[in-house]
Formats: sequence, structure tokens, C-alpha cells
Amino acid sequence: MTIAVCPGSFDPITLGHLDVVGRARAMFDEVVVAVARNSAKTPLLPLARRVELTRAAVAGLDGVRVEEVPGLLSEFCRELGAVAVVKGLRGGADVDHEVPMALMNRHLVGVETVFVLGDPALAHVASSLVKDVARHGGSVADLVPPAVEQAVRDALAAGPAPERGTR
Ligand code: PNS
Repeated sequence: MTIAVCPGSFDPITLGHLDVVGRARAMFDEVVVAVARNSAKTPLLPLARRVELTRAAVAGLDGVRVEEVPGLLSEFCRELGAVAVVKGLRGGADVDHEVPMALMNRHLVGVETVFVLGDPALAHVASSLVKDVARHGGSVADLVPPAVEQAVRDALAAGPAPERGTR
């Protein structure tokens, strides 16, 4: 039974993320989508909401579940017995961003990272752009799973909230 972890902030989950989760599931028996805090980012959606939306997005996908990462991703992987972290690459900028994290996770607990190339048709889909398009009134309905567009709009309309910090 091989377990892989697909980690991310998922602020919010996009069709690009789902593409990578599907590719990971094709390689491993079980995929745990791990919703984590990225201390370099201030999220729009609280962690609990990100978990909820991610869970709804993968509901019905056999062998895929969603968990919150309480602390270090590497510890989470070790405790789970995961054989790999799986991350998607859209282009060179992703490589620059991901390689130091992959090396750090390997340094900490020995877990390997497997990089998969996402669907090129989704190469422009990033959570940050989804939020920016929505913030300026554009439609993101065909970039995210159902319910996510409304959740993003609601969060943008609510404005900054204390619990949005790093939680
Ligand atoms: O979607 P993102 O924001 O690029 O994902 C980055 C994430 C959340 C996977 C990364 O920040 C992370 O692993 N956070 C958990 C805390 C941790 O382990 N930090 C050290 C990373 S080497």
C-alpha cells in the first residue's frame, strides 16, 4: 500500500490541483491531499474552509482523502508513512519554488518528492490568479471546482478578518 501526499495551501483549490491529484493517484495506492500553512503567504480563506472546499472537491475520488497538516509537512509525511510528496509543475518558476522545499523535506525526514507535469491546458491556473481575477470581477467558474467561486467571492466581500492570518 503506497501512500503519497499532495500538499499545498489550496487557497483555494483549483482544477490545476485536481489534475495533479489525479495523476498522483494513478501512481500511488492512496493520495492524501494535505492542506497546510505557508508562512510566506497570507491566505484569503481560513484553513478550516480550505480543508472543507478541498474535501468537497475530491469527494467521490476513490483512494483520495484530505487532511490538515498541523505543523511540518515532513513530520506529517513521516507519521503517515508516505513514500512520496507529489507536486505539479507548470513551468520553470515552479521548479525554482519547489526544489528547495523538496530538498528540505528530504533533509528533515528522507521523504522524496515526485514532480509531475500538469495538463498544459491548465498551466495558467494558479490560486493567486484565481483570487486576483475574482477580486476584479472576472469569472473563475471554469478554473475551480463547484462551490469554490462563491466561497472566494464571499471571502473577498467579507474583507480582512483576524482569523485569516496564518490559520
Ligand atoms: O501551495 P503552496 O503554498 O506552494 O504550498 C506550500 C506548502 C504549504 C506545501 C509549504 O509551505 C509547507 O509545506 N508548509 C507546511 C510547513 C512546512 O513544512 N514548512 C517547511 C517547508 S520545506
